[in-house]
Amino acid sequence: MHPLAKYRVEFPIFQQKIYLNSCSLGALSTRVRRKLNEMLDLWDARGASAWYDVWWGACEQLRQWYGEVIGASSGQIALHASVSTATAVLASALDYTKRPKVVTTALDFPTVAYQWLAKRPAGVEVVVVESPDGVTVPVEAIARAVDERTALVATSHVFFTTGAIQDLRAISDAAHAKGALCFVDAYQSVGQIPLEVGASGVDFLTAGGLKWLLGGTGIVFLYVRDELVKKLTPTVTGWFAHEHQFAFDPREIVWYADAKRFQQGTPALAAVYTQLGGMEIIREIGVPRIRDVTQQLTEDLISRLQAAGHELRMAQRPADRSAIVMVSSADPAAGVKRLADHGVIVDYRPGHVRISPYFYNLAEDNAAAVQFLSA
Ligand SMILES: Cc1ncc(COP(=O)(O)O)c(C=O)c1O
Repeated sequence: MHPLAKYRVEFPIFQQKIYLNSCSLGALSTRVRRKLNEMLDLWDARGASAWYDVWWGACEQLRQWYGEVIGASSGQIALHASVSTATAVLASALDYTKRPKVVTTALDFPTVAYQWLAKRPAGVEVVVVESPDGVTVPVEAIARAVDERTALVATSHVFFTTGAIQDLRAISDAAHAKGALCFVDAYQSVGQIPLEVGASGVDFLTAGGLKWLLGGTGIVFLYVRDELVKKLTPTVTGWFAHEHQFAFDPREIVWYADAKRFQQGTPALAAVYTQLGGMEIIREIGVPRIRDVTQQLTEDLISRLQAAGHELRMAQRPADRSAIVMVSSADPAAGVKRLADHGVIVDYRPGHVRISPYFYNLAEDNAAAVQFLSA
């Protein structure tokens, strides 16, 4: 038993199922349920009056905790409902007049590229860097795509399709070398992979509750580097970006001086609370310890799959792999169903069954998944 196995009792799903799908949705914990009930009880007992002395503070607490998990301050964090909305607001703040190009890769989650594809009628060009091996994208290829007409490099920390971890420092350096900025979708990394946003050199970064931060749907953050907070003004916005939002003045926007200027509307409080519950666990354990255990479980799963003769799509070096394991399959949907029939929950993407262990899994879970997948 590994040192974090004791947390498994906090995740009731394991009483019924073997859950190996955290890269789609982190498992629900009793702590998260308790936190959600706290919010519902306040709603019940006090209605809107809870905003002033409790809920407002809960949102600020979450900004602080999101900041801490990536080594940022709360002033660099805006709350959002999804990666799509966070990216859309960021995209609205950039000037494409002299730099109409946005560079992304074939392996990134497409909602990021969509924000700029939607701006094609306004002259924005999206350049998609291909992956030669279907697993990674060489940083040299990204660097070659960036030029003096590039506004932004927009890519992932961990690719959702392959689990490969990208070198953010090298990518942000490549962007900055040509005067472009760097935006990172870290939805598949924050929580499972340690990340210091300052050392990474990136300008913008988004991640959130759905997967590795154990907070469920509807709550993400956008990090903006200090210097850019002051320089950029969004053109997609809302009253939660207005410093004097309770003045209700329709004549003028007074932007928050910090990253809150990138927010839009009223946060989903239920999601803020579920994320606070998830973050309690992440903070208690610490991301480096989560990474240690999760990496061991991932390598254990890989060895078992290889021993059973499965072909895997993954980065060559273990240090570049995260806890997303792609197993080649002629009929992945059938494989997922077969596993589900045996109480093992995994997922699929085109051509692959996708299995993702986390710190609350055990080697026995891996063994069961491999047994039923190979049957
Ligand atoms: C890397 C990555 N980015 C973004 C998303 C989803 O974005 P949104 O919050 O807009 O649904 C996912 C998956 O849900 C993802 O894996």
